[in-house]
Amino acid sequence: MTDNFTQEELIPVDIETFRNATRDIDFDVFLKLSEDNVAHVFSRATGLDYKRLAHYIQKGVRELLIKASDRKAYQAFVARPAHLVFNDPNTSQEKKIATLLNMTEQNMAELFTQFNVTDGTANYSQRLIRNYVDLMTQSPNTLAIILKLVSHGEYLYYHSIAVSIFSMFIAKASGQFNQRMLELVGMGGFLHDIGCTQISKEILQSPTDLTKEQWAEIKQHPKLGLNMIAETASIPDEVRYIVYQHHEEPSGQGYPNALHGPVIYYPAKIVSLADAFSALISKRPFRPAFTVERALEILQEGSGRHDRELLKITAAVFSRQVEKKAA
Ligand SMILES: [Fe+2]
Repeated sequence: MTDNFTQEELIPVDIETFRNATRDIDFDVFLKLSEDNVAHVFSRATGLDYKRLAHYIQKGVRELLIKASDRKAYQAFVARPAHLVFNDPNTSQEKKIATLLNMTEQNMAELFTQFNVTDGTANYSQRLIRNYVDLMTQSPNTLAIILKLVSHGEYLYYHSIAVSIFSMFIAKASGQFNQRMLELVGMGGFLHDIGCTQISKEILQSPTDLTKEQWAEIKQHPKLGLNMIAETASIPDEVRYIVYQHHEEPSGQGYPNALHGPVIYYPAKIVSLADAFSALISKRPFRPAFTVERALEILQEGSGRHDRELLKITAAVFSRQVEKKAA
């Protein structure tokens, strides 16, 4: 929307101050398009849009504009970055998780706007994952709160966040992972579908059955994802295996390499299961969301696609949440 605001004085602010920020803003934000043209890009009513913000940063925008009369509100905003809200001992568990999801959503927006993932963004993802692992250890309610929160919004972001978190819970419940491996599983979950950003939206969101050619294109996404992180030195090899193998199936019917059970990387099997579970409990263009109970049944019916032991662990982790809700 172009402006009616030029009568009011606008002052420039650094776009970087909007990173690591919660979504709420008490002021309006503008973008200079040309000498005499300004667009109203974020409003106090709707808050920040992380995807657009990431897009501006990617395009090389360095400054945004605010009204001079909003200077105080802007200063207050800069003084409470998301990580301070998160680390404040007086912040409730629910608010902490909501803030962490906010920070994650912004990080996702950056990851999904980059053609090749930068070390800065990857390192930030790693820090976020560490926070999730801390929350998981601190509070048994974490999973229930996350299940409640991760149920709307743009599918690819929320799905990636959900897969990351669900993978870490399954990994933890398997009892086979130390803290570092839990974080790597979380990071793999975060990035598993990053290759999808290079596949057309029409195919990804198609409400009808895909053609053979369209399926062939979808099946490229593990390899495309691997390419996108090929130059990112801060991403460990464990994460690369997860991204590349998250659609392999123990029966040998998966892709891209039709690997059989024993040779599939175990953390990739976990992410694969979390991926399927998250997709089932999400609303898709072609069907409504399944309940947690039904999603678990569907996973068990499709045996061969997932590791049996991990299926049992997953059912145990998520059935507990259903029982809690019913209680
Ligand atoms: Fe995938």
